[in-house]
Formats: sequence, C-alpha cells, structure tokens
Amino acid sequence: MLEGKKILLGISGSIAAYKCAALTRLFVKAGAEVKVLMTESATAFVSPLTLATLSKNPVHSQFIKNEQGEWTNHVELGLWADLMIIAPCSANTLAKMAHGICDNLLLATYLSAKCPVFFAPAMDLDMYLHQGTQNNIQKVIGFGNAFIEPNSGELASGLVGQGRMAEPEEIFEKTVAFFSKNLPLKDKKILITAGPTYEAIDPVRFIGNHSSGKMGFAIAEAFANAGAQITLVSGPTHLTALHPSINRINITSAAQMHQVVMSHFKDSDVVVMSAAVADYTPVHTSSEKIKKQGIELQLSLQKTTDILSELGQQKDKQILIGFALETENEQAHATEKLYKKNLDLIVLNSLRDKDAGFAGEKNKVTIFDKSGSKTVYELKPKTEVAQDLLQHLIKLLNA
Ligand code: CTP
Repeated sequence: MLEGKKILLGISGSIAAYKCAALTRLFVKAGAEVKVLMTESATAFVSPLTLATLSKNPVHSQFIKNEQGEWTNHVELGLWADLMIIAPCSANTLAKMAHGICDNLLLATYLSAKCPVFFAPAMDLDMYLHQGTQNNIQKVIGFGNAFIEPNSGELASGLVGQGRMAEPEEIFEKTVAFFSKNLPLKDKKILITAGPTYEAIDPVRFIGNHSSGKMGFAIAEAFANAGAQITLVSGPTHLTALHPSINRINITSAAQMHQVVMSHFKDSDVVVMSAAVADYTPVHTSSEKIKKQGIELQLSLQKTTDILSELGQQKDKQILIGFALETENEQAHATEKLYKKNLDLIVLNSLRDKDAGFAGEKNKVTIFDKSGSKTVYELKPKTEVAQDLLQHLIKLLNA
C-alpha cells in the first residue's frame, strides 16, 4: 500500500509519543521506508531503540551524531522524505513551527523539508483550547501543512476533553489517502489473468504448462500499488497475492477462466491476459482413471475459446493487453496477434535468453502498441517488467 514511500516521522515530547511505535510498525508493514526524528524530551517517553528497531533505521535526535563531530544532515533528511509527519506535535513544538524557531534537529528538518507535512497535536485540553495554541494551529495550516485533529477523551492529566493525539490507525489512513490521491491508476478496475490452466484428462491427470504465474502476480501487485482495484484470475500456482486491493479468483481450466473473465469484463477498464491459457482441451474427460492398455493411447483434443480474441471483439472502452510467447518470427507473430485480437498492447516474451521465461524470476520482453511503436527491454526481474508495463499503460490512459 505504501511501497517505496519515504516517511519522516518527527516525534516531540508528549506521552502520546508511545503511540509512534505502533504507527511506525503500520508504516513499515505497508511497505514504507521510515526514518524517525525525536526531540530530546520525546526520548523520555519512548525509547529511540524501540523506534530504530521498528523503523529499521537509526533514530536521530541530535545535530552532532558522535564525538568525531559527524553531523545529521537535516537538509538531506528533508529532501529525502515524500511526507513528513510530526506526531505527537506538542504545544511547544507547534509554537516553534508557527514562529520559525529552530532550536533542535526536528525543527531544522521541518524548516528545510520540501515535502508535504502533517502535524498531529497532542496536549492537555486547556493547553489545546488556549488562544495561543489555536492561533499557532491556524498559522501552521496557513503554511500549507495538514492538520490532524486531536480526539476527545480521557487525557494523561485525568481530565476529559480534546487533546488526545489521533490514533495510529487514523494517522495511517490519512497517510494512505494522501499517497493514493496522486496514484496514476486510482479508480481503475483492472482484470488480470495469471498462471497456467489445467485441462483434465481424467480425475488424476491433466494437460498443463510450465507457467508459474509470477509475471501476472507481479503485474497485479505493481498495478495495485499504483492505485487500481485488481481482479486477479489465477490458474493453479503456489503464489500469494499480498496487496489488499487484489481480489483473487482461482480457476483451474481454460473454460473456467473464460467464464470468470467474461463475467468481469464489462466492469473493467483494463484487461491484462498474462495467463498461459491452454489452446486445446480433451474432447472427453473420463470420470474414472484411464487404465493402461495398448502401446499407444489416442487423446482427442478440441480448441478452447480464445478468451482474448473474444474480448477484442466485444471491447468498447477497455484497454486490452495480451502476451505472446514465440519461438520463431517473434516480432511478426506478436504484431499479427496484436491486430488480429484487436489489442492495445502486446508483450512479447522471448525464450532466447536462458534466464527468461515461465518459471524464472526474470523476463525479457518487447512491448508493441497498435500505433506500431516497439520498445525492447533488457532481461530484468519480473517485478521490473511489471513497472515497464505500468508506464506503457499510464501513457495509454493519458493519451
Ligand atoms: N489466450 C487466450 N485464450 C486462449 C489462448 C490464449 O486468451 N485460449 C491469450 C493469452 O493469455 C495471451 C494471448 O492470448 O495473452 C496469446 O496467446 P498464445 O497462446 O501465445 O497465442 P495464440 O493466439 O493462442 O496462438 P499460438 O498458440 O498459435 O501462438
């Protein structure tokens, strides 16, 4: 959900600082990179070691790191972050932010940060209600920083009122919403097929292929990270889809994949057929295990429905992306499929490189679009191929 996002968490001195351990954990679990800054007084409420362990990064609280005079570069930290969150933001830190005071590392970083800043105040209710604090909040909002309102409830003082820092889950949700606002595939519904299909010969045997599903799963993960809602129709594989925006539907045969894909097609904006769908299936599936008989066994096969061709005939607004696996005349065959199946893009897999292909972690692809352009890529991990495909899709959507 937050893969690759860089979050700078600035913790100031308030009892709510202990909640930052849970917040850091939520960010890291969601894939974000987290660096923590603490004011001197924050370190009395929660241990830097706890936050360093949870964030997997050193925690900074001093300008000077060690006796050798090495210093913490606040400008670099401010440039590094995609988002800075000051939570808890004590009345003191808030006042200093409002007035450009710079007497600790957190404030120096705040003043030099180029990224958006959230601040989540935490203090006792009378401090919160004081006109000085309210003015400071308005002032900091006026700088363009986003205010995360404190909740009402029992406070550390025993008093009841507004001043409790927003819960880690609330800050986390606001962070996810902030990042998803700018995601290139936000609100897009994308249907992706992955893996092989198994065509049953009898209850124990099937015709299948070596597809691992890794390419399709990598695409599903990359597109979900870009904000899309994914329906992943998967043939038999041992893979797991992790992203919460991926709705996985397991199928076994080409006929089942056909049925599921067609039932989701009208509702989709984009379809990616990366599955290795069987082209032929047995005419009859024996209900009993076939016994060994003569020297030869004849199996009669019939064509499966070409799902992608059918989608190509029925498409109106949808963007269709197909895959081609060729062993000779690669380019000619791939482009022929692109036009014959009425696709917008086709990804040609090359089997010429020994490390590329069905089961491995890498792929070497060439992407053709219907305007005739061709992009040749190096052999690279399937996760990176998925990113290349994402860039092509974004271009098509913005065309
Ligand atoms: N495909 C499909 N339904 C099928 C077979 C394939 O939707 N029954 C899709 C695959 O998911 C892939 C594309 O069609 O995106 C190309 O598949 P491929 O098997 O390489 O091509 P075919 O058109 O089947 O032609 P051939 O096997 O002769 O190369």
